Amino acid sequence: MCGITGYIGHREAYPIVINGLKRLEYRGYDSAGVMLFDGQEMHLSKTKGKVADLESIISKSPDKKLGSIGIGHTRWATHGVPNDVNSHPHFSQSGDLVIVHNGIIENYDTLKKELIKRGYSFKSDTDTEVLVNLIEEVKKEENCKLGKAVQLALTQVVGAYAIAVFDKTKPNEIVVARLGSPIAIGIGKDFEEFFVASDASPFIEFTKDAIYLEDEEMAIIKLERGVKVRKIKDDSLVDAKIQELQLSLEQIEKGGYDHFMLKEIYEQPKAIIDTYRGRMLADEGIIKMAGIDDHIEKFLNADRIIIVACGTSWHAGLVGEYLFEDMARVPVEVEYASEFRYRNPIITSKDVVIAISQSGETADTLAAIKLAKSKGAFVFGVCNVVGSSIARETHAGAYTHAGPEIGVASTKAFTTQITILSLIALKLAKKRGTLSQTAFHMYLQELQLIPNKVERLLQIDDHVKEIAKVYKDATNCLYLGRGFNFPVALEGALKLKEISYIHAEGYPAAEMKHGPIALIDENMPVFVIATNKGHYEKIVSNVQEIKSRNGKIIAIVTEGDIVVKEIADHVIEIPDTEEALTPLLTTVPLQLLSYHIAVMLGKNVDQPRNLAKSVTVE
Ligand code: M6R
Repeated sequence: MCGITGYIGHREAYPIVINGLKRLEYRGYDSAGVMLFDGQEMHLSKTKGKVADLESIISKSPDKKLGSIGIGHTRWATHGVPNDVNSHPHFSQSGDLVIVHNGIIENYDTLKKELIKRGYSFKSDTDTEVLVNLIEEVKKEENCKLGKAVQLALTQVVGAYAIAVFDKTKPNEIVVARLGSPIAIGIGKDFEEFFVASDASPFIEFTKDAIYLEDEEMAIIKLERGVKVRKIKDDSLVDAKIQELQLSLEQIEKGGYDHFMLKEIYEQPKAIIDTYRGRMLADEGIIKMAGIDDHIEKFLNADRIIIVACGTSWHAGLVGEYLFEDMARVPVEVEYASEFRYRNPIITSKDVVIAISQSGETADTLAAIKLAKSKGAFVFGVCNVVGSSIARETHAGAYTHAGPEIGVASTKAFTTQITILSLIALKLAKKRGTLSQTAFHMYLQELQLIPNKVERLLQIDDHVKEIAKVYKDATNCLYLGRGFNFPVALEGALKLKEISYIHAEGYPAAEMKHGPIALIDENMPVFVIATNKGHYEKIVSNVQEIKSRNGKIIAIVTEGDIVVKEIADHVIEIPDTEEALTPLLTTVPLQLLSYHIAVMLGKNVDQPRNLAKSVTVE
């Protein structure tokens, strides 16, 4: 969590650093700060609150904006409450060094005690202030330059970090380093300027050339001299590749929508097409996926598939379980990455692990991958962010190509992850001969129709908004679904709670009578996914059970439904499709519903409290 930015060059650094922070606010937004170096002095501004709060404070002191070198930080607190003092950047004791940090220094307490013995005192409760003083102490002890001091200090550190450090006594360089948290370095024209950030979005309008540091690497970025990348462990030089960025400015702006979340919900038809484009040739009956094709034996010989993920990606994994078992007849287990990594799971080289992550940076998922690899499993990644840590750590994988997802509540990531999982399930089913040719072709044709059907669903947004108006003041909600739509019930509940702070629970519909039914009274809205496939009659009985206890029923039904319509208080109709593909449709009205409720309640939809887009700490 936390976002960091930096600039060194010939332009005014302030607008670059502050706008960069705004783009990185999805990573954390409980406090923000910048340091600008005007050629003589470092000027520090920091505050609890959002980047906009910081900006309004700095607008009163224009001298604090001066300089062509700067670093900035937007925080998601780990050590120390969010307040002005704990906000980054942090100075070293002498005031010569300044740092911004994303991550956690686990042994900070031991290091702090040692530094206190050596005469250091601390203003904040952060692990970051310990790190900058450690670097200062090493620099003094070894009488070395900043780069060497950073390298030596980091060999003493246990934990995770992405850092940017500046030394006012050598004001022509910024030193960055990474372990477990991302760092991208933008290379300006003719090496005359450099940008630093947690991802490339802060500098996309300035350069398309970037270096992504790998774990345990650091870089010394020197004006007029370029970027030198080294291994932290042994100081050896790394031949770092400059990559061409595919990101565009348009992709990371709201494009006329009030919120990123709404934009991303509306992007789903295109995102789904982008996910299967070039991979699914529906008319020819072909699915081409290099990551699968190149390792097909691993998949075909696997005893089982284990899916690891967190949050919404875990819900997509659950849909994957239904898809793989139903179509390809492969046993699947779906695990929370955070549980899997610590529960000493049985993993063998006959297992295929699929790790799903939008950001590709989720710490628990990354750790689960490393564990599975160490036990000999083949690990396949499903990520959205190109070049992310998970994409690099896995043996093979497939990108969802959903485009940047900035709203903290995941939307298009979910539907594109399900699209990828459907393609894999279908491909394996074909290879294993578990699906007839006719069924295989029919699924491909149906999948091809999904974007259009999502488009149609988006047209009933006003109807969904009317329903949102009725239930916006609810304090508890229940979401029920069966089969393929049980994970959608979980996802619907997660969407509502994370952006509107209304308590919501998702349940397999039939489980209701084993407990949650006790909650149902005339004040309880129950969102039921009751499409006409699968266990329709069973879910109709569940709907009746709710009705007879006076619960309010909002049902998602297939177009033309008569039975549920008669019983429910409200219905939302979705176009007909194959049962296995219904999650791609039933999810959409639930996303819209949560969105409208949160807006009506005046919540910060894109940046809900206490959350961050990439959970890069445990
Ligand atoms: O980037 P990832 O897909 O690994 O993120 C996993 C979860 O943190 C994420 O899905 C989270 O639950 C979202 N806020 C849900 O909307």
